Amino acid sequence: MVRPFARHYDAIYSDKDYDSDIGVLSTLCGSKELCTSRVLEIGAGTASHTVRLASRAKELVSLEIDLDFAMLARRKVEATAHANVQLSSRPLDQLVDGGFDGAAAFFHVLNYIAPVDHSSFLKALSSRLVPGAWFVTDLWNGDAVLRDPPRGEIRDKTFGTTTIQQKITPTVDAIARTVTLGYEIDFRQGGNIERFAEELKLYVWPLSDLQARLAEAGFTDIQFWDWRRFPAPATPDSWRIWMRAIRR
Ligand SMILES: C[S@@+](CC[C@H](N)C(=O)[O-])C[C@H]1O[C@@H](n2cnc3c(N)ncnc32)[C@H](O)[C@@H]1O
Repeated sequence: MVRPFARHYDAIYSDKDYDSDIGVLSTLCGSKELCTSRVLEIGAGTASHTVRLASRAKELVSLEIDLDFAMLARRKVEATAHANVQLSSRPLDQLVDGGFDGAAAFFHVLNYIAPVDHSSFLKALSSRLVPGAWFVTDLWNGDAVLRDPPRGEIRDKTFGTTTIQQKITPTVDAIARTVTLGYEIDFRQGGNIERFAEELKLYVWPLSDLQARLAEAGFTDIQFWDWRRFPAPATPDSWRIWMRAIRR
């Protein structure tokens, strides 16, 4: 049984602009190349980026380690009949495939990675990319987030017969550099009411540390942009950023 947060993920994020993310990716990697590229996606979630990317890339391998999300991703990919997508729930270091022309990880997937795993994750990624390959991702800028930590909030959303209220309670640990987001969700659809909770622990990397680990793993030409004001370059206060790094 898929847990409610995963089951209702697409409704909860129904206003997320997935096309815009794919547009930024096309800009950062050079859209002409995307259609001839083998691309690796890390963190497919319910595959909303995956199906859009599949329409543009020659071949796509998408990883999702959460089994609930992996199942939903498989369903969406099958429903959209993209034959060029291969989904896997294996962790990156167990992926047999390699030789990718580029890799993408959307919606702060890097912030899911614990500091103890940073180096091994980036090395596993680097070793699966061809020289000159791009890695594009969006993430929280750890320095800016700890300077101006997230506050609790309530988000309300209504569309059709669906009403969603999310109460989000962040707990910041500035020493461990983590932000734990507690979600309490009230989900109403056509007379049904579900209430459920989910907790998400994010690790907020200092950008200097990220740059050092990327360089150690074989990446160069590391650049950051402000996520909200793309293509404006990131500033020290940019809370959420786009990053592109090139495999040496
Ligand atoms: C915020 S969700 C984003 C999903 C999707 N890209 C979207 O925007 O809807 C991040 C996803 O990355 C997955 N994830 C985190 N670390 C991962 C890893 N090391 N390998 C594969 N998937 C990972 C999580 O399970 C989660 O489903």
